[in-house]
Parts: sequence; structure tokens; C-alpha cells
Amino acid sequence: MRHYLQFKDFRAEEYAHLFERAASIKRRFKNYERYQPLADRTLAMIFEKASTRTRVSFEAGMYQMGGSVVHLTTGDSQMGRAEPIEDSARVISRMVDIVMIRTFEHTKIERFAANSRVPVINGLTNEFHPCQILADLFTFIEARGMNQRGIVDADCLKGRVVAWVGDGNNMANTWLQAAEILGFTVHVSTPSGYEIDPVVAGIKNSACYKVFKNPRDACRDADLVTTDVWTSMGFEAENETRRSAFADWRVDSAMMALAKPDALFMHCLPAHRGEEVTAEVIDGPQSVVWDEAENRMHVQKALMEYLLLGRIG
Ligand code: CP
Ligand code: NVA
Repeated sequence: MRHYLQFKDFRAEEYAHLFERAASIKRRFKNYERYQPLADRTLAMIFEKASTRTRVSFEAGMYQMGGSVVHLTTGDSQMGRAEPIEDSARVISRMVDIVMIRTFEHTKIERFAANSRVPVINGLTNEFHPCQILADLFTFIEARGMNQRGIVDADCLKGRVVAWVGDGNNMANTWLQAAEILGFTVHVSTPSGYEIDPVVAGIKNSACYKVFKNPRDACRDADLVTTDVWTSMGFEAENETRRSAFADWRVDSAMMALAKPDALFMHCLPAHRGEEVTAEVIDGPQSVVWDEAENRMHVQKALMEYLLLGRIG
């Protein structure tokens, strides 16, 4: 049994498999072809923070694959009344086949997984958001590494430059792990006080990222420019301080112009136009944010298939 708690839980060749499966599963979905390998399987989704994309993509994806879902939040379950996470894991995992959790500290999902009889997927913690990066990488491959017949070339990520502009948060940490495993470089620029921490990110190879004081320098010649909200969920008390600290870390057309001419723009969403990104960029021709959001569902279907049924195809 495997869990998917961090990006580094899988190897490069497993990602190559997942990207191929995601492409195939997406093709079937677009052709209205029924694909229900998870009939009679149940996914429990536990949300301790808000969500639109993660909930809809997992829920719709599981139903499309023939399974069903149970949706729990802290407020409407005993987890919000101090039942230990270990006990919740023991009970829930006796009744369902797979669990997705969105929570605060990463240690919490680790404690759940350690007591779970079934695979556990990280739907976002304070430190990591692996399902999002899975979707982002698949979106990049679709745009730059797939031929007319839909053949996936995961190697197209090798040697690429991804510019990360903004907070050294869960998304940034996960980009670093992906760079280390898949062989690209992240150019990171954060305001001072909001830097990435390679120890928290859990990376060993410092060659997979470069730090830039000026966000414009990070964007220079990048293949992909990406950012995220200035204030992540759980940090709302810092909103005002962050708003002034991050004022120069807004992705705008001038920054995009420094990247490669065919550079893509991504944002995991939800976005705040006029804060971390201008409307011109997120709604402009280089932005692939809607494909990126849709692809959450396709890659997570491939992920659930892999965790529950192993290698198919
Ligand atoms: N990107 C993402 O995880 O979105 P939600 O918070 O809406 O799930
Ligand atoms: N970094 C953001 C991502 C939201 C999908 C957060 O944690 O709130």
C-alpha cells in the first residue's frame, strides 16, 4: 500500500506513467467513453480548510470512475470535537478504500496515514500541495510535450526553467521537490522574510533551484512563470503585513516579457487579480490556468487508479 503525501513519494518513472494515464483518461472523458474501474470503491474526503477545485475534482473524478465519495469537514465530524486523528484514521479507513485530506500541519496527515489501512492522498497541507503540481506538470506537458496523437513526452520537462514569484509556501516547496525529481530548475523570488526553506521543502539537491532577490531576474528566460496568493489559508492574520511586503511580487506583462516568448503562466487558483497577478496576465494569451484547473481532475483520476489498482495500460 502506498500513500501520496508529498511529491517526492513517487519516482520519475512513476510520474511518466501517471502522465500517460492522465492523458488517456482525459481522452476517454472528452469522448464520453465510460471508464469505471473503481466501481464499488469509496473515497473519503476530509476538509479542514476551504476548497472549490480539490473537492469538485476528486468528487466528480471518483463518480466518473464508478465509485462514490463521503465528504467530511472538521465542523461536521468528531475531528472538530477533539477525537484524535489516529482514531479517526483507524475508523474511517475500515470503511472506505482511499482517503484524501486537506489540513494544516503536514505532521497531521502523516499521523493519519500511519494509522490508515488504505492509501491517503494529500489534498493540501501548510507545507505541500502535490496534486496541484501533478496537474501543473501535466498541463505543461500537454502544451509543450505532446505530439498530435497525444503521445506524452515527460522528458520535455528536463532542463526547463520555472519562475516562482511570491510566497515560499506549500506550492513553492512542492515545485522544488518536483524539480529535484524531474530534472528542471526553479528560479525562486520571494520577499525577504518569506523565503523557501529547503529543509521544510525536503530537498537534498540545491542545484534544483536558484534564489533571486528581484522577481524580474527570476522570470528572465523562464519557460513557465507561476505564482500564488500572497496569503495562504491559515495565515489570514498576516494579510495586511503581507500585502505591503509582496507589493513588488505581482506578475505583470513586463515580467512575462522577460520570460521566453512562448512562456506559459500558471496559478493554482483561487487568484486575486491586482494582487499577485494582473488581470492582463491571468486572462491573457500565455495563461493556461483553466486547463490547469481542469487537469486536477484528470491527474487525480490517474492517481487514484494507480494507488488502488496499480499499473494499468
Ligand atoms: N488549487 C486548489 O487547490 O484550489 P481549491 O482551494 O479550490 O481546492
Ligand atoms: N497556497 C495556497 C494554495 C491554495 C490552493 C493556500 O495554501 O491557501
